[in-house]
Amino acid sequence: MRNIVILISGGGSNMAAIVRAAEREHWARRFDARVAAVISNKADAGGLALAQAQGIATAVVAHQDYPNREAFDAALADAIDAHAPALVVLAGFMRILTPGFVARYEGRLLNIHPSLLPAFPGLHTHRRAIEAGCKVAGLTVHQVTVDLDHGPILAQAVVPILSDDTPETLSARVLAQEHRVYPQAIASWLSETN
Ligand code: GRF
Repeated sequence: MRNIVILISGGGSNMAAIVRAAEREHWARRFDARVAAVISNKADAGGLALAQAQGIATAVVAHQDYPNREAFDAALADAIDAHAPALVVLAGFMRILTPGFVARYEGRLLNIHPSLLPAFPGLHTHRRAIEAGCKVAGLTVHQVTVDLDHGPILAQAVVPILSDDTPETLSARVLAQEHRVYPQAIASWLSETN
């Protein structure tokens, strides 16, 4: 069985959507894959309880317990590798990763970013897209490389920006599409690497 490890920092709604898709679409039978663990850098991440309720192993590697990024990433890699992952999925994981960490999981490390990359890498994407006068926003699923929010693109979806949108209303509509597209992109990755 190929193990998927999901990294989160917050609510974990993307993680929950992936777990639901794995069940509904029988990833175990079709792709020999399962969500084996959910790991958070924050002990209070709401997604941890969601994962536990599904019987998924969870762990916390708290970044403030480590003196620098290298030490944190080494501890995080240990927690991940305990599950011998075929795929590591960043789902609202709000830490910048070191080049060594990215190299360790090269080709099997995915991220979702709430903009149409290469537009608006980094934070506050929805506010920046509205302020720039964009007519569309969206999301991107991509391979993670050392360049933040710049790896090869696996999937995108476009979401219109409405004239009365706020960052919050736009974010909610983009998030709904994230929940649809991220599981699809992961299923495609699993199918292509099977
Ligand atoms: C998502 O919009 C993700 O793209 C962004 O952070 C949000 C995480 O939401 N980077 P959740 O934790 O999956 O609910």
